[in-house]
Amino acid sequence: MSDRIDLAALPHDFLWGTATSAYQIEGAVAEDGRTPSIWDTFSHTPGRIDNGDHGDVACDHYHRWREDIDLMRRLGTNAYRLSIAWPRVLPGGDGPVNPEGLAFYDQLVDALLEAGITPSVTLYHWDLPQVLQDRGGWPERDTAEHFAAYAQAVAARLGDRVHHWATLNEPSCSAWIGHLEGTMAPGLTDLTAAVRASYHLLLGHGLAVQALRAAAPDAEIGIVNNLSTVRPAGDRPEDEAAARRHDGHVNRWWLDPVHGCGFPADMREVYGVDLPERPGDLETIAAPLDWLGLNYYFPAQVTDDPAGPAPHARSVRRPGVPRTGMDWEIDASGIETLLLRLTHEYGARRIYVTENGCAYPDVIRPDGTVDDPERQDYLVEHLAACASAARKGAPLAGYFAWSLLDNFEWAYGYDKRFGLVHVDYRTQQRTIKNTGHRYTDIIHHHRTQSHHTT
Ligand code: IFM
Repeated sequence: MSDRIDLAALPHDFLWGTATSAYQIEGAVAEDGRTPSIWDTFSHTPGRIDNGDHGDVACDHYHRWREDIDLMRRLGTNAYRLSIAWPRVLPGGDGPVNPEGLAFYDQLVDALLEAGITPSVTLYHWDLPQVLQDRGGWPERDTAEHFAAYAQAVAARLGDRVHHWATLNEPSCSAWIGHLEGTMAPGLTDLTAAVRASYHLLLGHGLAVQALRAAAPDAEIGIVNNLSTVRPAGDRPEDEAAARRHDGHVNRWWLDPVHGCGFPADMREVYGVDLPERPGDLETIAAPLDWLGLNYYFPAQVTDDPAGPAPHARSVRRPGVPRTGMDWEIDASGIETLLLRLTHEYGARRIYVTENGCAYPDVIRPDGTVDDPERQDYLVEHLAACASAARKGAPLAGYFAWSLLDNFEWAYGYDKRFGLVHVDYRTQQRTIKNTGHRYTDIIHHHRTQSHHTT
């Protein structure tokens, strides 16, 4: 029940949103001048994606965006987190802007505003133009510079109406999963490339902040990280050390430099890779931000794994703990812990939960509804934990459910359904799941309560 959520702890102007990303929903990969991204290449490489799925059509949002905005309106949300496809805007990676690519987002933003929905725009949600990958991708410094030019082009067109900007989504996935583990684009397993990519992603972030501030003086800028709480699996000192390294790998490596603390010395030693540092880079990376985005899905419990890849910490399953359809452990307390950590350890002045959600194998029932009780519990428990963090002082300003729609879940293809709205990929029919209706009720309760207390 929504009465388990301390809604009064949330500010009256709280953003209640949903989130998506370009490659996961848009489709239309070869329309209006868009060129391939690394995800087009990766998903069309045999064996990379479950069932041989790819994003060629996805949710066909590129053609159905009006219907999708209508769904947001029906859900009662007042914000929407979307990402821009770099290869639509700059099909050459750098160089001339493609006016048709920008026009798509221009009309989307106008229609969102007209519907009373605040757009929150993420510039990079993993779809690097393939042409830039062919020139070395994120391990190369040029990519960071091209990213800033792309940010400038987008802000110049949308910055009069879009005020919420995120530079990167989950750079740890781009660097570690894309370049070290190899199960996301570009599919490399190379520690040096991964560390260099991590550095240039953060440098690109800092350069993009400068570009956004210059092109859109009203911009409120943040970065979106997926963070985890980390526990040692046992009480051996080796496991404690592994937990510290894992925390460094998934959390501190991404938070410390942006907060002016540089790259963590212990992790530099763990990786043993020279950073491609130049004077002034750390200051660029630490450009002041207006907000932090937290994507939270699951906690981590790790054991020492000296023979495994960096950071030599292996995740361990906790028996008997409930899990989602992704096999991810459910632990709502983690979101509260992380919100408070961002507040106390990193001095966050404003935080958005930019993603949170779960996948289950939903089906449409004969009566046309989608009943998803586990997802409803997940939503309520996590919102309750968010409100509890707010009550304890976390400056939480919004929550974006992942995701508006079922969509292309990267290497898992279309089988993993995260949406508040079910998508029948054969017909492209959308159906609001019961969790979507529950979200509407919660939003409504919060609005009514705020209305009575303001
Ligand atoms: O679908 C992804 C999203 O693109 C980034 N954050 C995690 C989600 C679920 O895996």
